[in-house]
Amino acid sequence: MKLWGGRFTKETDQLVHNFNASISYDQKFYKQDILGSIAHVTMLEKQQILTPEEREQIVDGLQGILRDIENGTLEITSEYEDIHSFVEANLIDRIGEPGKKLHTGRSRNDQVALDMKLYTRDEIVAVNDLLKALLVVIHRIMSENTDTYMPGFTHLQKAQPVTLAHHFGAYFEMFRRDRSRLRDIYDRMNYCPLGAGALAGTTYPLDRDYTASLLKFDGPTLNSMDSVSDRDYLIELLSALSTIMMHMSRFCEEIILWNSNEYRFVEIDDSYSTGSSIMPQKKNPDIAELVRGKTGRVYGALISLLTTMKGIPLAYNKDMQEDKELTFDAIDTVKGCLALFTGMIDTMKFNRPAMEKSAKNGFTNATDAADYLVNHGVPFRDAHGIIGRLVLLCIDRNIALDDLPLEEYKKISPVFEKDIYDAISMETCVEKRNCVGAPGGQAMTQIIAANARYLEES
Ligand code: ARG
Repeated sequence: MKLWGGRFTKETDQLVHNFNASISYDQKFYKQDILGSIAHVTMLEKQQILTPEEREQIVDGLQGILRDIENGTLEITSEYEDIHSFVEANLIDRIGEPGKKLHTGRSRNDQVALDMKLYTRDEIVAVNDLLKALLVVIHRIMSENTDTYMPGFTHLQKAQPVTLAHHFGAYFEMFRRDRSRLRDIYDRMNYCPLGAGALAGTTYPLDRDYTASLLKFDGPTLNSMDSVSDRDYLIELLSALSTIMMHMSRFCEEIILWNSNEYRFVEIDDSYSTGSSIMPQKKNPDIAELVRGKTGRVYGALISLLTTMKGIPLAYNKDMQEDKELTFDAIDTVKGCLALFTGMIDTMKFNRPAMEKSAKNGFTNATDAADYLVNHGVPFRDAHGIIGRLVLLCIDRNIALDDLPLEEYKKISPVFEKDIYDAISMETCVEKRNCVGAPGGQAMTQIIAANARYLEES
């Protein structure tokens, strides 16, 4: 049952076995382990290290194991140390002598490095697809809301009016960058460690380029010690996953605020809300809160792995086995959160009147009122002071700048005319902002078209 009994005179203590074993979680990449082994023996035959018959028997045996795991007739059990031992022992049980040649020119060190890369490579693609599905929903909401006015905030104080399309557009940019980060990581990690052996390569004439191409890598890794001890790509991945969670968490925080009685900008669908066991009126944004909360555990995985790796001398050390549970949990968490978050915003209702009302109250047009004066020759600093005094007057009377009579405007500056009201209307404030990246309808239409092209092409 063990791959390494020969040198030992005593049985392993049961607690030691349990502490050392990784099969409870590395069974997650049974498929990658088997596909890696198939590529390995295919190369061994090409290099005449195995005969064609041996290769055929081993490949048949491995395919049988894969089939039986998938159809549920072969159970992965905990008496094995890891998935590599499980597959090899099972192969030997099935096909006998040739099975004992599977591990020729290989170590579990390069094997596990390969399995983890194959597994994470597929998961990067899956996360990337989920991000795309989220972007498609954000894009739809943007397209439908180029004239849904709402307040833009700084310091959580109303600042200037924007549109819902513009606000969602900010998240479009974030999740798009997240996808490009995943792409970079994929490209950088996509080199095959198989053939590095335990740490110093092997004396067999392996064709590492061939194995790499069979497994769709861009080539073999170039230093065997680095190959078995590099976990940089996992740290990069956990960092990218943390950034995705940070983006979702910020969005969730806003949705929680917007869904509150105080804001009422949005209403989360019943199917994405939960109730209270005591307060009958409650409809809580639990999904958004959970996504925000789970961000912590993904950050935790990043910090854990960085800390695990920081004192490890070259080359492989068992500490590195700790990379797996952290990474698997982070990936599963991000995938779950992305799917739920996408569903939640896809079904969310937007309360346009509440948003517009909020944008109208709160002096979000004060900058535009100052700009009006600047356009009539008043220096900006003076204009700022004049409008500040008018805002104070309005606060005192509990009215908006839009409702202040023209005489009051004129009392403070003769420059004001009737057209001030048009200049500070919410529509003007937004629609005049049309430089690239601004919320004005013309600018937004161009961005939305560019986003549509991006979604088609990527
Ligand atoms: N389960 C081990 C890991 O995840 C596999 C590699 C074992 N190598 C060794 N030299 N003990 O790292």
